[in-house]
Amino acid sequence: DKQLSHANALKGVKLMLTAGPTREAIDPVRYISNHSSGKMGFALARAAAAMGAEVTLITGPVTLQTPPGVQRVNVESAQQMLDAVMDKIDNQDIFIGCAAVADYRVAEVASGKIKKSSETMQLALVRNPDILATVAAHEVRPFVVGFAAETHDVETYARDKLNRKNLDMIAANDVSVPGQGFNADTNALRVFWRDGHQDLPATDKLSLAFQLLSLISTKITKK
Ligand code: CTP
Ligand code: CA
Repeated sequence: DKQLSHANALKGVKLMLTAGPTREAIDPVRYISNHSSGKMGFALARAAAAMGAEVTLITGPVTLQTPPGVQRVNVESAQQMLDAVMDKIDNQDIFIGCAAVADYRVAEVASGKIKKSSETMQLALVRNPDILATVAAHEVRPFVVGFAAETHDVETYARDKLNRKNLDMIAANDVSVPGQGFNADTNALRVFWRDGHQDLPATDKLSLAFQLLSLISTKITKK
């Protein structure tokens, strides 16, 4: 059995991952977010725990059950996700950024519910910190894996993120393919690292998770 053959491949390895969307408050009743379901991140957490890893899952709001043996931390905003990650990053061997982190947040969150008035309105937004790049730039650095959801020029954009964020590996998926990626139960990944790549063809997210983690396990030297 494929999944049994992975047993213990990550024994004793400390693995942290982010999953799900983030929520950026506009006022006390509204927010900016995205369609991430958290399924890929939760599948990775489940698979990693089954492979013997000590798993910390930092997740935005999702409707998924915590996989067995996984330590879960719930957050809402990108800033809260960054704080939760940096709080526990120091002893990690592997970090996987699977969350769909909102790129921007509202510049000033209104303290009361915003009332409608004119026909148009504008919200000023400011850039959120990049969690993955922050981890990759940290002094005690785990093996850092990113995700890239792209609709075109997948390899070019993925390799650009790999280099720009100083990652060890990036798993890219073409979200323009129906039934793949965001909110779907299946996915296909194109995995890139500095001097190589591997395609993981479309299958359910849990099988894909085991395959990606065994690929990672061949690249890390356990601390
Ligand atoms: N990421 C992150 N923090 C952010 C934005 C992204 O940690 N503020 C991580 C994601 O979890 C993912 C990777 O960076 O692992 C790539 O995310 P993506 O949205 O594809 O890339 P961006 O760098 O935000 O670029 P763009 O959205 O412009 O394509
Ligand atoms: Ca982004």
